[in-house]
Amino acid sequence: MRANHIFGSILLTMVIVSAAAGNPSITAVNVTERVEVSKIALDDSIWQDIKAVDIALYPQRTIRLNDKKANALNADNRGKLIKVAAIYNSNGIAFRIQWKDDTRNVQSGMQSDLYPDGFAVQLATKFDEPQKLPYIGMGSEGRPVLVYLHKAVKAYNTSKEERERAPDANEAKRNTLDENLTRLDANAGKSDVFDYKKVFISEGFGSMTEIRDSNHTFETDMTYTAGGWTAVFGRGLKGEYADLSRAGAFPVAFALWDGAKMGRADIKHLSSWIAVKPKERKGGEALVAELTAAPKGDAVVGEVLVASYCSSCHTLGDKKAVAPYLAPDMSMIGGYSTVAYLRESIVEPSAVVVPGYNRNAHKNYPWYGVDENGTRVSVMPQIWDGSTEGNRTDDDIDDAVAYLWTLKTKIEK
Ligand code: HEC
Repeated sequence: MRANHIFGSILLTMVIVSAAAGNPSITAVNVTERVEVSKIALDDSIWQDIKAVDIALYPQRTIRLNDKKANALNADNRGKLIKVAAIYNSNGIAFRIQWKDDTRNVQSGMQSDLYPDGFAVQLATKFDEPQKLPYIGMGSEGRPVLVYLHKAVKAYNTSKEERERAPDANEAKRNTLDENLTRLDANAGKSDVFDYKKVFISEGFGSMTEIRDSNHTFETDMTYTAGGWTAVFGRGLKGEYADLSRAGAFPVAFALWDGAKMGRADIKHLSSWIAVKPKERKGGEALVAELTAAPKGDAVVGEVLVASYCSSCHTLGDKKAVAPYLAPDMSMIGGYSTVAYLRESIVEPSAVVVPGYNRNAHKNYPWYGVDENGTRVSVMPQIWDGSTEGNRTDDDIDDAVAYLWTLKTKIEK
């Protein structure tokens, strides 16, 4: 009897603790100098020995594309796991990326309502301050990202001049990606075979500008085998826009488009910034620690705070904002944000301004204004500054961040 009683009370006092996990990092393996890493093939035998890491990508929800049919098709999207392996040496770095996809969607011929599968690899141009990385996905003013984009497109007829022409990053922040894709549609079905592979520099939604980096070349490729895609991205270590030749670690992000669901532009899956550690290089610990950190606050407490202070403007999962155009939809924000980014967005709203170009945005409700120096200023009030006087405390902000981090969806099987 007695023993039973003790056992019972032990069971009663057991508490289920589920701690939030941080993101994994990727170790790039140093390979022999004879391998031309920046041009490595996706089926090169070298990949067999490289361990891949699972990285989670979540449906982009911050802004919406103005396409009812496509939005409906993607409304219930789950997260996706991709497998990433990385290698480097003194002449380059490469990633092999694999993901499941039941359908092979390749654009070829004159099919105007057919969208290709595709992927992108993003690099931050500056990452010496790991807490101040560019806005994930698109970069932001003063913190640009490089977007290497590959779409499964065949029969793209470009003239030689066109292939050689690439404007410099444009001042007007004109969206040359859209122009590019329009031209691609118009030319589909003509004789030349050309995979769509390009690099853009971006400082926010709507500002992607195609560039040609004079210091390095890159290669991308993708191929379908039953059940999924294998893709590769390689480039030189040094480049005009991002120098990876010395860093002990650097951030990378991945995006996927699913043609079967009319995926294009902002209808994509996106990872958070993931730390890449070139094995055998010194340094980079701060960046790895930052990007693999789990939030330390209490999400349950944070949920209550966020519901009362933030939900009038922001959509939070099932809880819809008063009006969807007031502020970014945060239903998936935990899936593609770092802990540092969430904190910074709260205490210093204008540090990274989600640059709107919200196609659904109401023109009377812009997300930012411009000050006398031409710098973007967020309309989000600096509600919490982390001071204790009459304001929320640092701990409250940690709790809010822990809650925002939970805003993501399940991973698809
Ligand atoms: C008056 C409306 C308003 C309120 C209230 C508000 N925000 Fe915002 N928030 C915005 C706008 C507009 C943006 C986009 C511009 C920017 O990046 O600052 C934004 C951006 C953000 C972002 C970046 C979103 C992204 O997709 O990257 C986060 C995180 C955020 N807010 C958190 C909060 C939290 C937490 C609160 C409550 C403490 C809050 N906001 C309250 C309007 C608001």
